[in-house]
Amino acid sequence: MDAVRLVEVGARDGLQNEPRSLPVATRVALVERLVEAGLRTLEVGAFVSPRWVPQMAGSDEVVRQLGRRPGVTYTALVPNLQGLERALAVGCQEVAVFAAASEAFSQRNINCSIAESLERFRPVLARARDAGVKVRGYVSCVLGCPFSGEVPVAEVVRVTRALHELGCYEVSLGDTIGRGTPGHTRALLEACATEVPLDALAGHFHDTYGMAVANVQAALEAGVRVFDSSVSGLGGCPYSPGATGNVATEELVYLFHGLGLSTGVDLPSLVAAGAFVDQALQRPTGSRVARAMSARAGREAA
Ligand code: HMG
Ligand code: MG
Repeated sequence: MDAVRLVEVGARDGLQNEPRSLPVATRVALVERLVEAGLRTLEVGAFVSPRWVPQMAGSDEVVRQLGRRPGVTYTALVPNLQGLERALAVGCQEVAVFAAASEAFSQRNINCSIAESLERFRPVLARARDAGVKVRGYVSCVLGCPFSGEVPVAEVVRVTRALHELGCYEVSLGDTIGRGTPGHTRALLEACATEVPLDALAGHFHDTYGMAVANVQAALEAGVRVFDSSVSGLGGCPYSPGATGNVATEELVYLFHGLGLSTGVDLPSLVAAGAFVDQALQRPTGSRVARAMSARAGREAA
């Protein structure tokens, strides 16, 4: 059976945007449940300034407590060398740097221009290579910016290529504000694939306009096989009013299994992991699949 690879970002992208911060023990317990459900690549924290993103304070302790597990990769964001050193100190096997295709977003998110960010990542990639740590790259605002609106495709292609040339083994294209539609998604991927091999591209869709699953399908049709998602659709975007979280992992597992693609994930266990974090955050699930499955289970139990 053909396979897709899911990168579970709930414990990072999801939790960084939830108004309520979760303690380290709960974040570790969430990741452990996600691993039990079958996820094998999980972004579990961010070694960024805790002043900028307080929800990610304690990421060092999260990674330390998770330790290593055969066949499982725990990864975390690093914005600079200081972040990388923190990641190395706790034994991260993989990290991710993050740039944007919009100047305005780059300034608000990491306090520097796109060019400065790429220069900042150069020593990060060199140091990571020496330490035997793989580096993934993100490009934000690939289908629009909350500050400057339209983002030219050529700019997305340029930043994607730059990250790949710097040594990122994979570049994840982020529809940060979840405004893209499938036609644009497909055109964007086709443009990026002219400069970077398709198997080095991943899709990262937020679901603000309800288009994320359709965008994933469009990216799949364009040949992408790696997708980021958050259990229960956790998260939002502090810079984008009304923005919802990442596409829910439950939705992608349901979609891919329906298409005959294997994910390695057990959907009921994933839904249970989502219920665990939703209870901790005191929020309703952001996954329609989870809602449907829970309602059905409740009816059958009655
Ligand atoms: P800055 O203020 O320009 O940094 O922030 P600085 O180098 O001038 O340092 C200022 C202070 O921050 C210093 O402390 C540094 O030590 C400290 P002080 O001397 O004032 O006490 N500092 C750090 N502390 C801990 N860890 C570090 C670190 N670096 C500096 N690594 C900086 C620049 C990049 C640090 C800041 O802007 C930052 O942390 N930004 C992070 C923003 C963020 O995490 N955004 C969310 C993730 S991106 C995203 O969600 C998009 C994505 O999901 C894809 C998509 O959806 O599009 C990936
Ligand atoms: Mg994101």
